[in-house]
Amino acid sequence: PSARLIVDHDFIISDLDRRIFGTFVEHMGRCVYTGIFEPGHPSADDQGFRQDVAELTRELGTTIVRYPGGNFLSGYNWEDGVGPVEERPRRLDLAWFSTETNAFGTNEFIDWSRKVGVEPMFGVNLGTRDHDEARRFIEYCNHPGGTELSELRKSHGYEKPHDIKFWCLGNEMDGPWQIGAKTAGEYGRIAHETAKVMRWVDPSIELAACGSSNRDMATYARWEYEVLDHCFDYVDFISLHTYFQNPHDSTEEFLGNIELLEAFIREVVAIADAVAATRRSPKRIMLSLDEWNVWYKARTHEHLRKPGWPEHPPLIEEVYNTEDALLVGGALITLLNNADRVKCACIAQLVNIIGPIMTEPGGAAWRQTIFHPFALTARHAHGRVLRSLISSPSYAGKTAPEIPYLHACVTEDETTGQVTIFALNRHLGEPMDLEVLLRGFGGNRQVVEALQIHHPNMKAVNTKDAQDTVAPAPIETVSLEGDRLQARLMPGSWNVIVTA
Ligand code: AHR
Repeated sequence: PSARLIVDHDFIISDLDRRIFGTFVEHMGRCVYTGIFEPGHPSADDQGFRQDVAELTRELGTTIVRYPGGNFLSGYNWEDGVGPVEERPRRLDLAWFSTETNAFGTNEFIDWSRKVGVEPMFGVNLGTRDHDEARRFIEYCNHPGGTELSELRKSHGYEKPHDIKFWCLGNEMDGPWQIGAKTAGEYGRIAHETAKVMRWVDPSIELAACGSSNRDMATYARWEYEVLDHCFDYVDFISLHTYFQNPHDSTEEFLGNIELLEAFIREVVAIADAVAATRRSPKRIMLSLDEWNVWYKARTHEHLRKPGWPEHPPLIEEVYNTEDALLVGGALITLLNNADRVKCACIAQLVNIIGPIMTEPGGAAWRQTIFHPFALTARHAHGRVLRSLISSPSYAGKTAPEIPYLHACVTEDETTGQVTIFALNRHLGEPMDLEVLLRGFGGNRQVVEALQIHHPNMKAVNTKDAQDTVAPAPIETVSLEGDRLQARLMPGSWNVIVTA
């Protein structure tokens, strides 16, 4: 097919909040243990942090990392994970039917995040605990000193406050699988009270209330409305979670999931603004898509639970393929095009558990297919997102009635003059002749980099022994004359074209 994109220097959606390049580290399976943390691993530093994983995390370009859960959060006592390691309790983790050793906790995560160069995002347990524990925890983390809990932190070797800015008020509290699940009314009240006291301890923080666990929950939309009706004045964000699936076992349908993400975002924005309207409030609640990814292959009971309460068993270690990389790249385009309301997002998770990075205990670490579109977007999307006017033929699907073959967005970094086009060709049988009109950016622009994620086999994967099966490669045909860029995009490909 042929498709056209028009973009104008002056038509701006929003500045880009780089927290949309977030990831997630949960105490689940091998994400912490033998993922980011493995004392005795050949690459481990003196704190047991795997440097091969740290290096890949930096290359991934993630900006903020959510911790410690997930479903794990709803049964977690933060006190178990601080202080002398040899005194920390072993506990049953009822979220994942595992034994938690607590060898890694809050202070280790802060050290890891500082070393890797990412911002920490924390959650407070609103499953088995409440606002009282949340205010104690934030006092431990963020209060400078002179109180029992801030002095306790200092006695653990952390003189300066951790200064954690972004906090999640619980996790998936609408889900029956959650320890201490709640109705919208119950959760809205506790979220309000928790947010209130946390802000009293540290007014500089930002807070996210739990939205629905996914768009298919029976209580979806009503949940968001009622929760925000309770806590609107005290929170900054509402969270969204989505895990893309492939029920039709069809790449065309699978890539239609991107349209569902767009609908999800628009609906949650509408609900948040409806709550604002009842108050005649100019305040705008922002969206935090704090769990999103492809997850359906490793989703059976056996993937979710191993018998015998093991320590860090391998759980949901989804192996990603070409079509998964295309979907992740396409979803990132959607997040960018909604940059005015989506100010934070965490691909879930970082390593081993449905992660862009895979490791072997004691052995190698490598990039899954989905690593590449994420890393390329984080590397090249800077500054602000511009409004893209797209003309493209579409196909009809079961997932969405109208799925345009071209899905694209454009960013502009005014400091470097870089204008970058991200484009997904959802036509699987034909290349796409793409024309982009770059209006108002000045002449003498050149293509400085043009890369694609493409593989003729949609099921191709990266493994320890074949780590680069699906990896970025140059786009063969791309040219720019004046304000007119032309490119031939391979069938079923995700592309990034950088001009300056
Ligand atoms: O990311 C895996 C799990 O998925 C998280 O613990 C939970 O929040 C979600 O259901």
